Amino acid sequence: MSKLPKLPNTVRGKDYVETKDWTIKEIELALKTSAELKKMFKQGKPHRYLPDKTVFLFFFDKSTRTRNSFEAGATQLGAHAHFIAAETSQVAHGESPKDMGIILSSYGHAIAIRHDLVPGEGNSYMKEVARWADVPVLNMQCDVDHPFQTLADLMTIREEFGKNLRGLKIAVSWAYAPSYAKPMSVPQGLITLMPRFGLDVVLAHPPEYTLMKSEMDYAQKVAQENGTKFEVVDNMEDAFENADIVYPKSWGIESLFHKPEEALKLSKKYKHWICDEKKMKLTKKNSIYMHCLPADRGYEVTDAVIDGPHSRVFPEAENRLHTCKAVMALTM
Ligand code: CP
Repeated sequence: MSKLPKLPNTVRGKDYVETKDWTIKEIELALKTSAELKKMFKQGKPHRYLPDKTVFLFFFDKSTRTRNSFEAGATQLGAHAHFIAAETSQVAHGESPKDMGIILSSYGHAIAIRHDLVPGEGNSYMKEVARWADVPVLNMQCDVDHPFQTLADLMTIREEFGKNLRGLKIAVSWAYAPSYAKPMSVPQGLITLMPRFGLDVVLAHPPEYTLMKSEMDYAQKVAQENGTKFEVVDNMEDAFENADIVYPKSWGIESLFHKPEEALKLSKKYKHWICDEKKMKLTKKNSIYMHCLPADRGYEVTDAVIDGPHSRVFPEAENRLHTCKAVMALTM
């Protein structure tokens, strides 16, 4: 087997809880490594950067992409991903994040956590595990951020438009979905990451669907620091006008995550917030449609759009594999 190119050790041991915690240079390294690992994967070249290592995958919520990209990715890197459903562990009996962080650190090399359903809980839980863990803590989605998703999104946008994204407009919009109150972490992750990488962001939502103030303030601040724009509008059409990228998806109301029936009833007022071909016509000719998935087809988006020429949802989902491998290979 030919020798593997050495990876830099500048983020070795570092947690990846929010993209805010990583500098632009560190995120650039993750993107570069993702592209290199993608190439090796496509060429069928082995890339076992993490032989004999273990990553614990601790899930408080369901998953298709995140779980499978981490499990497949760990195997491809020569590591083992150990799946734990929170309800089958002693956490269900109240075991503390401190004890969990200390004990799993002594068994392996990273602790990845998904804890995204209740505003005010998941991010604090992860930070408490990270305070006590001796190994990197990786955020597989919390209430505040979904940093593996937005890293894959940025990779997908760069593959489409090139490295220099300055002047391009991304519309991050709420959309109606009857399935469940989806976390706020994807739109929050997008508005806090994309202005740092040259994109002008327009956020659209009905009045009840505000995002966390801390994330809104941060988005405003980084847009100003990076010479990009961050604007909020109250309808999908204004956001889509001349957009290069549209990212319409549903999320819940911060104060109603504990009251799903009330939240669903209220959301029905906004059934017309659907991404359809008529709205796509407002965007630039070569615009792309993105969604982190799962999407509520027929509600958040029509089949004609998600299966149509603008859609990049499958390359976007594929890039979840390469980005999670890059972060594991660099930090573990
Ligand atoms: N986009 C995403 O995180 O997908 P899963 O919920 O299936 O992991």
